Amino acid sequence: MAGNVFGKIFRVTTFGESHGPAVGCVIDGCPAGVDLSAEIIAAELERRRPASTVSSTARREEDAPEILSGIFEGKTLGTPIAIVIRNTGQRSGDYDELAGVYRPGHADWTWEAKYGRRDHRGGGRSSGRETAARVAAGAAAKCFLAAYGVSVSARAVSIGGETEEAAIEALLEQRKAEGDSAGGLVECRIAGIPAGLGEPVFDKIGARIGAAVLSIGACKGVEFGGGFAAAASRGSANNDAPLLPPRSAEAGAQNASFADNHAGGMLGGISNGMEIVFRAAFKPAASISRPQDTIAANGGKRRLAIRGRHDLCIVPRVLPVVEAMAALVTADLLLEQRCAPAQEARKGPSFH
Ligand SMILES: Cc1cc2nc3c(=O)[nH]c(=O)nc-3n(C[C@H](O)[C@H](O)[C@H](O)COP(=O)(O)O)c2cc1C
Repeated sequence: MAGNVFGKIFRVTTFGESHGPAVGCVIDGCPAGVDLSAEIIAAELERRRPASTVSSTARREEDAPEILSGIFEGKTLGTPIAIVIRNTGQRSGDYDELAGVYRPGHADWTWEAKYGRRDHRGGGRSSGRETAARVAAGAAAKCFLAAYGVSVSARAVSIGGETEEAAIEALLEQRKAEGDSAGGLVECRIAGIPAGLGEPVFDKIGARIGAAVLSIGACKGVEFGGGFAAAASRGSANNDAPLLPPRSAEAGAQNASFADNHAGGMLGGISNGMEIVFRAAFKPAASISRPQDTIAANGGKRRLAIRGRHDLCIVPRVLPVVEAMAALVTADLLLEQRCAPAQEARKGPSFH
């Protein structure tokens, strides 16, 4: 199975299946001297954990990160950082009947088509559990970014099309009663990002962030700034008027300023000094208890009502995952910029 390594310089490998002993990550390329501890990682993991809200799975996971290497006395050593998060809350028996049947909307059928076999217990690496490792790695990236004054924060914009809390609660209660699920929209902002990150052709900053966020399970679309609405707009409304002259190479990482931010913080694939703003659409969780038509591995038709503990809506839990992917890309781009010889003057903070 390929594709478990992410990033170019700030490089993360994740491993582990939902119902195996553990999930985790190895981070290679995180500079030495970054403030990082098990407590910081645990706080991020806590945000991803199923809460006792109506929207989340009843699966209880402790999510205590064990740091095996790379951190000493609260700071990174510059060596590979290995983090393990034990799986403690599995109830694999809940998934027995899924061994020979494909869940509609989930990865079962495609995994079997590709590999000829799959871990049916919770979906293996196609489970949302895999994202715990991303969040752990993202915590390291966030700490690295903090030294640059860069922060990443995500919030839920809407759930099931509703934006008000009371309406969202009512919608979720109804979906729960119906054995159904809901999707939603997440907005993420990267603040304090200097102008000049990203490369103008294949490594446009939007392309890098888009690929990162679309790699999260259940993400079906990403838009930047004015987003898809720009397709119905006009140039005079969509253009952001520059308020400062473009900075020169000598001026350092001075942030530009624009009258608006329809561009979402990027022009020509390069950050323009404004906040990076993007929204990600998440589909309704596929695993629902309402009976659905499907097929079994032997080809027979089946009516499937999924048991076990599943998220009614993944949006609340996905917020730290979106932040983690955005932070990982930004950390990578900052390090790429530091490595560019012409940018030597703008090396950024020293961690030593
Ligand atoms: C944090 C998180 C939790 C998730 N929980 C569930 C869940 O409880 N039930 C479910 O059907 N899908 C859940 N998913 C989504 C599945 O992982 C995803 O839909 C599945 O792998 C199929 O991939 P695709 O939707 O990207 O095509 C979750 C995803 C994330 C990121």
